[in-house]
Amino acid sequence: MSGEEFSLAKVFQNAETHREISGIVAKHLSNREDIRGQALNGLNLSGSKRILDLGCGFGFFTEALKGRLHPEAKIIGVDRYPEYEWFYFQSCEKAGIKADFLSEGIKVIEQMDDHSFDLIICSYALYFFPEAIHHISRILKDNGVFITITHALPHMQEFTAYVRGILKKNGLIVKIDLPYETLISRFSDKNGAELLQAHFSKIKVMKYKADLAFGKGDHEDLVSYFNFKHSFFIPESIDPDDELHHKVIVGIKQDMETKQGLKITKNDVIFVCSDPNHNTSK
Ligand SMILES: C[S@@+](CC[C@H](N)C(=O)[O-])C[C@H]1O[C@@H](n2cnc3c(N)ncnc32)[C@H](O)[C@@H]1O
Repeated sequence: MSGEEFSLAKVFQNAETHREISGIVAKHLSNREDIRGQALNGLNLSGSKRILDLGCGFGFFTEALKGRLHPEAKIIGVDRYPEYEWFYFQSCEKAGIKADFLSEGIKVIEQMDDHSFDLIICSYALYFFPEAIHHISRILKDNGVFITITHALPHMQEFTAYVRGILKKNGLIVKIDLPYETLISRFSDKNGAELLQAHFSKIKVMKYKADLAFGKGDHEDLVSYFNFKHSFFIPESIDPDDELHHKVIVGIKQDMETKQGLKITKNDVIFVCSDPNHNTSK
């Protein structure tokens, strides 16, 4: 993991704020069909006993497994921050699934046995560690399933343009990709299938279209979102004292009082992978 990805991952260290922001995103999402339901629909997971959630955070994807697994199922949540353990166990309790939590980050997967999991899930995290795909294939049983959800590009382009616009007004024209654009492009709708097909023979791709709608008066929610993720949009190197960060916040507050609001495209993609290529997994 490069220094930049590491500093972006740091955003997620505050587990409680992450969960609050996730609530704000859900509140403003236009598509009322739950993406996790779409990912799991049609799959019979009632025989799944050994499960892994990679980059599990507070257990957003794990929660959706409620009632779908074998009664003796046990899930292991893996994240790089121990701060998620308590939240993850809470989600597992809600879902009625026995759980374990490992905070060593993705590298723990290297020590896991071949062909040992029935189901592996990973939502909005594989762009942090796409180099782990061959291990995911290696540790999956022959009849196992790997389900991953990630973003479609361009992601949140109206918000990116909006942030760039405020920076420009303040004399800063950012021509390079913003940090999150670089991060997300490591595993997205554009290259995801290609990265996976070297390690899985069957890949089903499903699109999920949605947008976030922030109306007049919703500036507090949008500011909270931006506060949490500001280093995804403004490189730390050009804003060491958070001056630009504050200018964007002032801009959001003013604009959301005078304009009709902001609609932000937030399309995602789901990959359901089976038939791991155990001969070529290296
Ligand atoms: C956008 S969040 C997604 C969390 C959760 N899967 C969800 O859908 O809400 C990305 C998660 O990946 C975790 N993460 C980032 N780098 C990681 C790494 N190298 N190993 C394990 N987890 C990592 C972060 O700590 C964070 O919890």
